[in-house]
Amino acid sequence: MLPCINWLQPLLALISSSLLTRGHNCPFRCLCPDHHTVDCTSQGLTRVPDSIPLNVRRLLLSNNWIPWIPADFLVLYTDLVYLDLRNNSLSQLEPGTLSTASRLVFLDLGCNNLTEITSGTFEESRSLIKLRLGNNPYLNMVGRNAFMGLTSLRELELQQNAFTVLDVGVLELLPSLRVLRLEGNPWLCNCQFAKLFVWMKENQHKLPSGIEGIECSLPMDGRRIPLNLLSEDSFKDCSGVLTLTDYLIVIFSGISASVAAIVASFVLASTVHCFQRLRKGTKTDEEDGND
Ligand SMILES: *[C@@H]1O[C@H](CO)[C@@H](O)[C@H](O)[C@H]1NC(C)=O
Ligand SMILES: *[C@@H]1O[C@H](CO)[C@@H](O)[C@H](O)[C@H]1NC(C)=O
Repeated sequence: MLPCINWLQPLLALISSSLLTRGHNCPFRCLCPDHHTVDCTSQGLTRVPDSIPLNVRRLLLSNNWIPWIPADFLVLYTDLVYLDLRNNSLSQLEPGTLSTASRLVFLDLGCNNLTEITSGTFEESRSLIKLRLGNNPYLNMVGRNAFMGLTSLRELELQQNAFTVLDVGVLELLPSLRVLRLEGNPWLCNCQFAKLFVWMKENQHKLPSGIEGIECSLPMDGRRIPLNLLSEDSFKDCSGVLTLTDYLIVIFSGISASVAAIVASFVLASTVHCFQRLRKGTKTDEEDGND
């Protein structure tokens, strides 16, 4: 009898643990196609399901109505590598929610209702490679240190949000960044925007279509100017505090200044050329004398 119980115990443990990780522990209305995936896509969920297996690695929650994630959510799911919350109703991230997600590689928060990414949001997300934050129509603020700690981040999506300006310092915290999407934001071509403009020019290879197709609007009348019509000179007078009218003048004097510079250098070049031709006769004489 006793030896029998001895080998029965581990067997029972094995059976119950496999039941726990298989279908048994799969949350209601979700699918668990393998040991590490929980798929609750398009289930009309209004909150994060209970009883998600603790060893989940891929959690798919897109196309639901989830308005918030509990602050301790990722403390529980420490193996989580892939989290898809696209197309939900998230309007804010509780401070600290993502700061423990040290294994998370992919995070999709696109198509939500986020308004701000606060400083310290991703503190310990050192494995994160792709972060999608696009299509949040009210998202217009990123805290100065919001992306601090994202040392592996290669792809960042901020397209189709509500940014009028973005502090370049925020991007300088991303040493591994390769792809950045910024298009479809209502950028304002003012002096605050100047630094971002210079950054975009220097990092065009990181923007999927370069600065092609990115526009900023004039503060005066909202008219949109494609960025490839502007040059760094357009913002060269942006050192002091300028009025809205000044911005306009700055931008257009920028364009005319570059045209003027081209004309001036052309005139100068032709003058020099003529001058050299005029002197040619004398010069040949001099050279003959030297020889
Ligand atoms: C977003 O989710 C809702 C609810 O499931 C769905 O009706 C809608 O088609 C989804 N939108 C996109 C763009 O997938
Ligand atoms: C999204 O956020 C805006 C601004 O905070 C709010 O007015 C709107 O009702 C929200 N929409 C949804 C669907 O939660």
